[in-house]
Amino acid sequence: MSKFGLKNTPQWQNLEKNYREIKKKHLRELFKDENRFNEFSIRDNDLGITFDYSKNIINSDTFKLLIEFVKAAKVNEYAKKMFLGEKINWTEKRAVLHTALRNRSNMPIYVDGKDVMPEIKAVLKKMEKFSNDLRGGKWVGATGKKITDIVNIGIGGSDLGPKMVCEALKYYADGPNVYFVSNIDGADIYEVLKKLNPETTLFIVASKTFTTLETITNALTARKWLADKLGDRAVVNHFVALSTNAKKVKEFGIDENNMFEFWDFVGGRYSLWTAIGLPIACYVGFDKFVELLDGAYYIDQHFLNAPYEKNIPVIMAALGVWYNNFFRASSYAVLPYSQYLNKFPAYLQQGDMESNGKTINFEGHRVNYGTGPIIWGEPGTNGQHSFYQLIHQGTRFIPCDFIGFVNPPEKIGDHHEKLMANYFAQTEALAFGLTKEEAVENLKKAGISPADIKILAPHKIFEGNKPTNSILFNELTPRTLGALIALYEHKIFTQGIMWRINSFDQWGVELGKVLANVILPELKGQANNKHDNSTKKLIKIFNSTKK
Ligand code: F6P
Repeated sequence: MSKFGLKNTPQWQNLEKNYREIKKKHLRELFKDENRFNEFSIRDNDLGITFDYSKNIINSDTFKLLIEFVKAAKVNEYAKKMFLGEKINWTEKRAVLHTALRNRSNMPIYVDGKDVMPEIKAVLKKMEKFSNDLRGGKWVGATGKKITDIVNIGIGGSDLGPKMVCEALKYYADGPNVYFVSNIDGADIYEVLKKLNPETTLFIVASKTFTTLETITNALTARKWLADKLGDRAVVNHFVALSTNAKKVKEFGIDENNMFEFWDFVGGRYSLWTAIGLPIACYVGFDKFVELLDGAYYIDQHFLNAPYEKNIPVIMAALGVWYNNFFRASSYAVLPYSQYLNKFPAYLQQGDMESNGKTINFEGHRVNYGTGPIIWGEPGTNGQHSFYQLIHQGTRFIPCDFIGFVNPPEKIGDHHEKLMANYFAQTEALAFGLTKEEAVENLKKAGISPADIKILAPHKIFEGNKPTNSILFNELTPRTLGALIALYEHKIFTQGIMWRINSFDQWGVELGKVLANVILPELKGQANNKHDNSTKKLIKIFNSTKK
């Protein structure tokens, strides 16, 4: 494909044409078709999921054209390459095999001619034994006491995934307490350690590279805290590592037997399915961790085998591209109606934005179209009392995913019916809004004077026509959670292929890290390096104000 090829393809041009027509239409009009829900929704009884995408600004032609775009992008061909261990992360010359971590079949998967499945299974076995021993009190601290608290020290993918899952499966938790420390800001670890007893605390140092400044700094602080109280020899009973870097783990002083290995073919933000998931297995039990893998595997098979027209992650991706590239929506909101999923938007921010925040295409050229959007969100109903105003009546166009569950794990009074009434009401209000006539009628009924109605009516109008997907699961279980995460992983993958970018590197986070290492000695009294005037002055103020 030539430099600016994608926008010149017939698939893109046809969508552009369709966009010019459909942007004049309103969902109120599109919903005159009684069959719309049937046409634009997918139900899977085995998993217990309904994916309703009928409240999107599309018609049958748009949908066909979007699927043609996906076909032309050869998404399934690339997906197969990924699942088979081809080095699709070409800028790092790596395979991308988070799917192998949850491969529940006996199919071998080869990287450089070697089947990676035996190693993956061996690490899972080791995780099973460790989590069982820890939970059962067989693995004890240096003074013989049972471990009651785990502190996971990691950042980015070595933090967000396990943190999100532990939070989401809190209802099922029957293991030790789990805390997550990620920020290099000392306040993070200080506030966790002050609550804990070293005799009953285990530190999991999670770092793919084992060189990340934040993680190593926090791990050294934790080790000092422990050694000050229990002596250096206690480290072996209180520290385990999750990493690809055995050498660095050893140098840090963690026993090799206490290291859970993973591999270069697992990207940090895709790593919760292996050793990085150890805190999850300790918190909810290994059987539940396996259920999480099962759910993801189910979606892997769906993604590989379902036709594009019935493929949930493919449709999610295509709709995202539709709004991103034709409606020019620059952000996308993910709104879980479950407090248990309160960390899901933050988790997805890394998953999506670190993956698709790219500008250079397959051919090495700068793209001339938008790629990954800004991902954000909060659980409903909290968000409703905060930023939904802007989604409903602001000037921005923000497509949203509404994630909900029919049966919550906990059942308290009628909380859930009230929560879900809001879930349904919001997508309805966003789609259909409130016309001027309806707004005037409501004001009349409320006894407002004609003069005030004239002033108030424009403020009471909801334009509507705001697109949403409803992702509705029967239950929130480890299996459905695994499926939900995998749905988004494959959505991200599909969009990367559609935009012709590498979703699996992250060079963009490097420059800031390099510069921080240059500046650090200057904050400890060493001579100034060359900086711009602003940075120089800020450093000077810091150093002269520092106590
Ligand atoms: O932020 C960049 C990044 O490399 C992420 O991709 C990764 O998840 C995170 O840092 C942590 O890296 P590590 O697991 O090597 O400590």
